[in-house]
Amino acid sequence: MNQGSQPFEVELPPALAYRLRWATSEEKVEITERLRSMGRQTMNLRIMPDVRVLSLYNRTSNELIGWCCLDYEYQPAYPELMSLHLDPSYRSYNLGLLLETARAAVLWELGFRIAYTRMEAATNAGLMKYRIEAGLIKQLTTADLPESFYGLCNHCECFQRSCTSQAYFMVNLEALLRRGADRLGAIDVRKLPQDIDLDPAKFRQRSRQA
Ligand SMILES: CC(C)(COP(=O)(O)OP(=O)(O)OC[C@H]1O[C@@H](n2cnc3c(N)ncnc32)[C@H](O)[C@@H]1OP(=O)(O)O)[C@@H](O)C(=O)NCCC(=O)NCCS
Repeated sequence: MNQGSQPFEVELPPALAYRLRWATSEEKVEITERLRSMGRQTMNLRIMPDVRVLSLYNRTSNELIGWCCLDYEYQPAYPELMSLHLDPSYRSYNLGLLLETARAAVLWELGFRIAYTRMEAATNAGLMKYRIEAGLIKQLTTADLPESFYGLCNHCECFQRSCTSQAYFMVNLEALLRRGADRLGAIDVRKLPQDIDLDPAKFRQRSRQA
């Protein structure tokens, strides 16, 4: 592990071999329960009948270790990205980027060029800053959006509880796809399930400052 301000040794994740696939309806139930147990919002999974979920498995242990959700049917003018998660021991190895790139690629294939996302601002400050500075997202205000989109927060169990400062973003799908391709190579989401093998040479070399 890293010590103080020393750069990280390149650490290895629990596995190098993964499988990306669409979650089944049973897995959606499991993911909803896991989100609930983490105190995360489950609103999209509860109210959007066509929400799609990409799941990521450790191919060696066959464990579900991450997922992300998207929906483009509920409000086709506002395709939404939500509920990105990776189990803690799998973080920092580009697997989050893998899920984000795959989900952007799904929307891109369908002809979307931008998507939208909502986040809790206070607890996600580092991630928001990174994404804004990388040109992946642009912050919007409620004045830029219809109430049908930002008002979805009213259906959320976290609204005004663990989520006291809502932030809204436009996601640049092309920028996300470019970043993913640079780091990970192409991901063809037309062919799922897909086996993914991580290249340790591409892992980050230094600790991420929270
Ligand atoms: C968010 C999450 C999926 C990121 O997964 P990850 O595998 O650690 O991220 P990656 O290794 O793919 O990182 C991709 C890029 O995002 C940056 N990043 C990821 N999480 C970050 C954070 N919390 N703060 C700042 N930057 C972050 C990384 O630095 C990296 O950029 P770099 O390589 O140019 O430095 C994971 O941390 C997670 O599940 N967190 C808990 C749930 C959560 O916060 N979900 C998002 C809520 S909207």
